[in-house]
Amino acid sequence: MVNSAPNPRVLSGMRPTGALHLGNYHGALKNWVELQYQYECFFFIADWHALTTGYEDTKDLEENLFQVAVDWLGAGLNPSASTMFVQSRVPEHAELHLLLSMITPLGWLERVPTYKDQQEQLKEKDLATYGFLGYPLLQSADILLYRPKYVPVGEDQVAHVEITREVARRFNHLYGRESDFVDKAEKALKRLGGKNAELYRTLRKAYQESGDESALAKAAAILDGNGRLTLADRERLQGYLEGTGRMILPEPEALLTHTPKVPGLDGRKMSKSYGNTIGLREDPGQVARKMKAMQTDPARVRRTDVGDPEKCPVFDLHRVYSGADTQAWAAAGCRTAGIGCIDCKKPLIDAVVVEIEGVRARAREYEENRDAVAAILADGCEKAREAARETMQEVRSAMGLEYR
Ligand code: TRP
Ligand code: SF4
Repeated sequence: MVNSAPNPRVLSGMRPTGALHLGNYHGALKNWVELQYQYECFFFIADWHALTTGYEDTKDLEENLFQVAVDWLGAGLNPSASTMFVQSRVPEHAELHLLLSMITPLGWLERVPTYKDQQEQLKEKDLATYGFLGYPLLQSADILLYRPKYVPVGEDQVAHVEITREVARRFNHLYGRESDFVDKAEKALKRLGGKNAELYRTLRKAYQESGDESALAKAAAILDGNGRLTLADRERLQGYLEGTGRMILPEPEALLTHTPKVPGLDGRKMSKSYGNTIGLREDPGQVARKMKAMQTDPARVRRTDVGDPEKCPVFDLHRVYSGADTQAWAAAGCRTAGIGCIDCKKPLIDAVVVEIEGVRARAREYEENRDAVAAILADGCEKAREAARETMQEVRSAMGLEYR
């Protein structure tokens, strides 16, 4: 039973910002690389999202997209473990976005915290557009199209996963009530097989009559673990279990993983817009030079001045790259002026260079071979479309749009 169960699905996306930096790597990508061996992973480059703020200038889009793809591969995303694709190549994202727009109250979008924030921050751009307001809903479509269990995102994106859940709930509420729902659910239950069907019934009763959450979880596990159920039947039984209608678009969960703070060269958060980054594939000599000039505790002017690691961005980098021993050595040396900042940075520079060298080595074959990258993405797009088509069929049918 366990072997036939598919791994839970994970989906995430990234804007095509061009070559990635260490902040992007430690904030997201590194985590994706680990997830790909535990889950069925879909990762996409959100090129339409780039247009929601950058619609005026699209000339670098293709190059930026290529660089992001090379960084993904260099960081260790493995095309045979994860499905990597480009949003605009899967037009189902647009179709679902449009259909969801019909049922999404304007107020939900206006209240998303990033809406006003970003308009404030990007004052030089005119973001009073329909596309920009709808961007979180496009993200909802991106997610719901694949019916993932988890969406790995940073803190700043949690509100978008939250609105996605609300939209899914509303959709299921509006369209999840087939006239013959109970009939179909009972038929699906027969397909579960005698023992499991009986257990499901008992657990369903326990949940619906006494709100027993653990019964709910156990019954859901029976469904998850069953490879014989079709997707539609699985949704029916999930809905039947919870006393709702059919769950056509399951609610995803944000997967917030602990991500360390990655300071940029000037001590602010590493970000392309601050121009304080270290590139994931940057020349190692250049990286060493940049890091030697990196901001330290301003109180340490001379070698003999003591410093405070808590006030030093270099120490934040130690937290990302160094083991406990090195961190202890750096902190003690700093506080006593036992070491200089150059000494302190030395092991850090070595660690960053080793990391970057690894990425560069894996990326090399792709940098010179655009066709290979294009083929990987084309293949990913095919796989993604397969999953997307399956969802859209269900969506159209639930909405009464499946005409003969
Ligand atoms: N909005 C995300 C960002 O700016 C990118 C993104 C688009 C995304 N669609 C997504 C992330 C779906 C997770 C799931 O970083
Ligand atoms: Fe920062 Fe290290 Fe210098 Fe202290 S010794 S100020 S932690 S770089």
